[in-house]
Amino acid sequence: MAKLIGTVAELREAVGRAKKAGRVVGLVPTMGALHEGHARLIERCRDECGLVVVSIFVNPTQFGPNEDFERYPRTLDADMARCEAAGADLVFVPDVATMYPRGKDEATYVEVPGLSSVLEGASRPGHFRGVATVVLKLFALSQPDLAFFGAKDYQQQLVIRRMVDDLNLPVTVRTVETVREADGLAMSSRNRYLDPAERKAATVLHRALVAARDAVAAGERDANRVRQILTATIESEGKAVLDYAEVADAETLEPLGALTPGRHAVGLLAVRVGGTRLIDNALLTG
Ligand code: PAJ
Repeated sequence: MAKLIGTVAELREAVGRAKKAGRVVGLVPTMGALHEGHARLIERCRDECGLVVVSIFVNPTQFGPNEDFERYPRTLDADMARCEAAGADLVFVPDVATMYPRGKDEATYVEVPGLSSVLEGASRPGHFRGVATVVLKLFALSQPDLAFFGAKDYQQQLVIRRMVDDLNLPVTVRTVETVREADGLAMSSRNRYLDPAERKAATVLHRALVAARDAVAAGERDANRVRQILTATIESEGKAVLDYAEVADAETLEPLGALTPGRHAVGLLAVRVGGTRLIDNALLTG
């Protein structure tokens, strides 16, 4: 049975016991409203780890003042069932006061420069500061050997990898491929905000990325032309409003002028469909 844990003391105790017994500890950080994408991360963690810790915490410090923190879906009973089915041992569900006992304004933060200020970071100031801080705290609390993140949030896993590297954290980061619906829409907790017409329109992100990939596979080397394919595809969908469409170096997120052999490129999109902001990405080379 997956065990629900709410306090730091209980978590430390359970992790301490597992470590003493020589078990490899794995962590899957989440904000809940779990779907098959999260389940895949937990299963990968189960494959490699003797103790599987899932955290569920809607982290207030990574939401902007006009974002959806209050209405973010909270579905703990269904989440526990999914954790159990996917093989979790411990499900850590702290409250805000447990994670930020001095409050958001007095908390200590960690910042990953550069990578945090472009794309999602430019559209959502402070977002990655909140993400890096809460993930660092979750690492400190559960002391994982391995931690699992989704490629769906491409920039996020790069920010976490950079933090781990810069701070010499003894954690190995694994990135798990994006899990999609049958029509290509990347699974996301925010998809449940979409009404049926918006849900249909939301497939445009994946369609745009596939068109970009196809163009590159057919020999397109001009990154601006690839950006145009992304932009034009999004704009062809009446219900979609583009936030950004970028073609960037897959490791540094530096915008590319040309696609060159030996340098991996990633296409990244943020699009508003109705009131919902969706992101997706795809490697364009390799
Ligand atoms: P959340 O959006 O709940 O996502 C938790 C993890 O699941 C992230 O690593 C995310 O990339 C991954 N994930 C989400 N959708 C996925 C999909 N369709 N396929 C594969 N993986 C997917 O990301 C966060 O929470 C938070 O920022 C967090 C890291 C927990 C810090 O608060």
